Amino acid sequence: MSSSTDHEPVLAMADVVVRFGGVVALDGVSLEVRPREVLGVIGPNGAGKTTLFNVACGFVRPAEGRLIFDGKDVTGWRPDDLVGHGVARTLQGLGLFDRLSVLDNLLLGADRHARSGFVSSLLALPRASRDEAALRERAMGVLARLGIAERAGIPVGALPYPLRKRVSLARALVAEPRLLLLDEPASGLSEGEMAELGDIIVDLAQDISVMLVEHHMDLVMRVCQRLTVLDFGRVIAEGPPEVVREDPAVLDAYLGGVIEDTDVRTAPTVSARGDGRA
Ligand SMILES: Nc1ncnc2c1ncn2[C@@H]1O[C@H](COP(=O)(O)OP(=O)(O)OP(=O)(O)O)[C@@H](O)[C@H]1O
Ligand SMILES: [Mg+2]
Repeated sequence: MSSSTDHEPVLAMADVVVRFGGVVALDGVSLEVRPREVLGVIGPNGAGKTTLFNVACGFVRPAEGRLIFDGKDVTGWRPDDLVGHGVARTLQGLGLFDRLSVLDNLLLGADRHARSGFVSSLLALPRASRDEAALRERAMGVLARLGIAERAGIPVGALPYPLRKRVSLARALVAEPRLLLLDEPASGLSEGEMAELGDIIVDLAQDISVMLVEHHMDLVMRVCQRLTVLDFGRVIAEGPPEVVREDPAVLDAYLGGVIEDTDVRTAPTVSARGDGRA
C-alpha cells in the first residue's frame, strides 16, 4: 500500500541460533532478503546453509533469534502457515505424485494451501467451481512461464528429472508466493539446464524475492544481486557477488586457509572451487 514497504526486507533473520546437540549449526546469523532480489547463500560444506534454509521455511525452529516476514514476527511458525502467508519452497525430495499429471500435481499442492478453501466450502457450488477454474488458469499460467505448459497432461513420473524439478518449482509458485526459497536447485542439472534455471530465476525475480542456497558459483554469480556467506554457522561476508568473491575471508573459508600468505588476487577465485565439491 505505502511505498515505504518497497524498501523493507521481505524476509529478515535476526541473530538466529540453531543447535543440534553440541553442534552450533547457526551462531547468531542475521540477513535480509529485499523485494524482488535474489539473495544467494553460499559457504563451504557444513557451513549451515541447509539449516538456514530450514529456519526460513519453518522446518527448524531457532533456539534464539527472530524470523520476520513482511514486517511480521513469524518466529516458530509452522511450514504450512508460512506457505499460506507467501513463503514458498521447493522440497529436496521433489514431493510430487508420479502417477498424477503435471497439472493435477499443481492443483493438489495449491489446494492444500488455498486461502479461500474454507470460505468457498461454506458457499454454494458455483463459487467453488469458479475458484477451481481460476486455479487451473493460474496453474497453466505458471507452467507456461516455466516453459512446460505442453506437459500439463503428462504423468510426472514419465518426465525426465530436470523437468520434474521444474514441476516441483511450478507447484511452489502456484501459491503466488512473495518469497521463494530454493535449496540447491541446480543439483543434478547439466550446464545447459542450469543456464535455463538461471533464466527462470531471473524472470521470477521481476515479481518476487528469491533466497537461493547453492554451491554452483557460476549460477550464483549470474543471478544473485547480493550474497551472504556462511562459515561454521556465522556470516563471514555479505555484499554484491563481485565484491564477495574477492573477500579474503571468503577465499580463506573455501580454500581452507591455504592462501593465508599469498596475494588473494593471484589465488583461484571462489568460482574455480565451486563445482569441485563432493
Ligand atoms: N539434524 C542434524 N543433527 C545434527 N547435526 C546437524 C543436523 N543438521 C545439520 N547438522 C550439523 O550442522 C552443521 C550445519 O549443517 P548444514 O547441513 O546446515 O550445512 P550445509 O552448509 O548445508 O552443508 P552442505 O554444503 O554439505 O549441504 C553441520 O555441522 C552439520 O553436521
Ligand atoms: Mg546443505
